[in-house]
Amino acid sequence: MGSLQFEDRMSKILFTEAVIQRRVKEMAAQITADYTENGLAEDLKGRPLLLVGVLRGALVFLADLARPFPIPVEYDLISVSSYRNGTAPGAVRLVKDLEKPIEGRDVLLVEDIIDTGYTIEYLRRSFIARKPASLRVCTLVDKIARREIATNIDYRGFALEEDEFIVGYGMDYAELYRNLPYIGVLKPEYIG
Ligand code: PRP
Repeated sequence: MGSLQFEDRMSKILFTEAVIQRRVKEMAAQITADYTENGLAEDLKGRPLLLVGVLRGALVFLADLARPFPIPVEYDLISVSSYRNGTAPGAVRLVKDLEKPIEGRDVLLVEDIIDTGYTIEYLRRSFIARKPASLRVCTLVDKIARREIATNIDYRGFALEEDEFIVGYGMDYAELYRNLPYIGVLKPEYIG
């Protein structure tokens, strides 16, 4: 079953492939301007901006975001897991750490979606303890309707007001749909 057939499982397509690709390029351009012209780069040694993708959802976004950069960038990956139905709401577990230290580096955390805010706040605390030169946060989707703790987002692709179950472009339901090039709302009959 290819991605065309998967479209039948969506109650609507929220962001088409073309819309996502255009927005991701705009974000890369804004980030480039901030770190080159707008003085955000603080790494005293002048090393490239380090993009840190949060596995697994951000993989697709990171791959597209990294490619249009006209300036050198590096990337690394971190993997965390949240206990969604656990006894401690908001608890996050580190599954795979970064490969290299980030002390003194300009770091941009890259997420596919910020929902309750717990994951990004866990990562922010963990990263600040490692003393980067600067730390900013970028997410493709900001699901503001679900926010439980305040978090500052520096770059946001799309703000989502509704609490809808979205999949595609890295986001899954039971590990499916991550490879879809668009973001859609999954019909209720395909959930559960
Ligand atoms: C998603 C997403 C964020 C997190 C956001 O990951 O990629 O990391 O949830 O949710 P929060 O703001 O409520 O903490 P998920 O745990 O679904 O894992 P995945 O990236 O492997 O799909």
